Amino acid sequence: MKICMLGAGYVGLVSAACFADFGWDVVCVDKNPDRVNDLNEGRMPIYEPGLDDLIERNVKAGRVRFTTELAEPVKQSELVLLAVGTPMRRGNGYADLSYIFEAVEEIAPHLNDGAVITTKSTVPVGTSREIERRLRELRPDIDFAVCSNPEFLREGSAIRDFMYPDRVLVGCDSPRGQEVMEALYKPLSLRSAPVMFVERESAELAKYAANAFLAMKVSFINEIADLCEKLNADVQQVADAIGADKRIGPKFLHAGPGYGGSCFPKDVSALIRTAREAETPVTLVEQVDRVNNERKISMARRIQAAAGGELRGKTVAVLGVTFKPNTDDMREAPSLVILPMLQDRGAEIRAYDPEASKDAEEQLPGVTWCDGAMKACGGADILLVLTEWNEFRALNLKAMKNAMRGDVLVDLRNVYTADAAEDAGFTYHAVGRPTGIVAREDAEAQQERVAAAGAPETLVGAG
Ligand code: UDX
Repeated sequence: MKICMLGAGYVGLVSAACFADFGWDVVCVDKNPDRVNDLNEGRMPIYEPGLDDLIERNVKAGRVRFTTELAEPVKQSELVLLAVGTPMRRGNGYADLSYIFEAVEEIAPHLNDGAVITTKSTVPVGTSREIERRLRELRPDIDFAVCSNPEFLREGSAIRDFMYPDRVLVGCDSPRGQEVMEALYKPLSLRSAPVMFVERESAELAKYAANAFLAMKVSFINEIADLCEKLNADVQQVADAIGADKRIGPKFLHAGPGYGGSCFPKDVSALIRTAREAETPVTLVEQVDRVNNERKISMARRIQAAAGGELRGKTVAVLGVTFKPNTDDMREAPSLVILPMLQDRGAEIRAYDPEASKDAEEQLPGVTWCDGAMKACGGADILLVLTEWNEFRALNLKAMKNAMRGDVLVDLRNVYTADAAEDAGFTYHAVGRPTGIVAREDAEAQQERVAAAGAPETLVGAG
């Protein structure tokens, strides 16, 4: 099958590489000549484990190439995939569709009769229908189909997610669209990956609903984590216990400093906006957004409290600034809220991240960047873990403590155990564990509350 992929961003690149690996003939078009140049010379514009090898293998095999020219590839393809950006418009929560509609105008003159145009970007509900309407105006002379095929890739494990999906979702309302999309995913359906065909609006909404639901799980466990600290429970034990129930499931129940990334915050906002416009507000999702924004701010307060209430003149060594491990992506990373707050309160920041790029340096001015965890610790008063990179787990805590001036370890990803941290000489603050900052103060108060609650007959019912 001949495929034209528009956009060599995250989704476009990963999908182009994976489709080429299926054996399809893929041309990936991007307007940015530097990006295209880099890709043709084997340099990856993003960090994603395994992507460089996958692209190299398929470029060598002649199954994928990169170009800025769109006309020829569109003419030669039966399937045109749209994976251009849909950023959130500043301030109003709307997804900006200008790149999508620009792409539609540009491909229109070159489309063949019978072409299938499929959105891979996350787009607001109704976008596929609108693309179809615009194309019908531009090309009344041909037959074509417009489908929606949202991605559920996670950064850091995108290739695995693509190759072994829980499901492939295709929104489609025509036999031609279904035929081409079925053929596209044949290599996966042969391996029994479910390919689900639904209405286009359902596919578009399902993408937002999936991300909002996962964001809700994260915010839920973050609130439970705060409660755990107050009530002397351990959030990991609670998460394991509830996650063992198949109706809940164990994933996305790790408490932390709040979710970030290119999808959750943007998609949650877009869903809220869409629902308000449809006069059916999703109040639960609105709360998720609020809880997550407040979470990041409360994390800064928590660090200040762990530092004894005063940050002026103190140095905070930060491990990890990206929104999660195995990516260099800084979009909506909790570090972007937390670190400036610490700086405002007078702290010096020394940070180390295995992959954070120029982006991070630009977005976090005033931070001293170190090329190793040990270096970041030198002379610091507080050690702060913001992203759970695997390499942090194997660090020699004792050596780090010895390199520091102070002894406070604030572990917002629960990377360490209290025993290991305390053995190394740290005063340890985790999230949602009895070692948390709130917990120490409240354990006694909790005991008193329980004692005061008195005899079991005061309890009403069981649920
Ligand atoms: C997400 C969706 O998972 C993916 O399906 C969609 O296509 C794009 O958005 P991604 O943004 O790469 O993927 O990251 P994900 O692994 O989902 O994590 C999102 C955020 O939630 C991160 O900030 C992460 O640290 C946080 N998170 C996730 C938690 O705090 N706890 C968890 O248990 C899981």
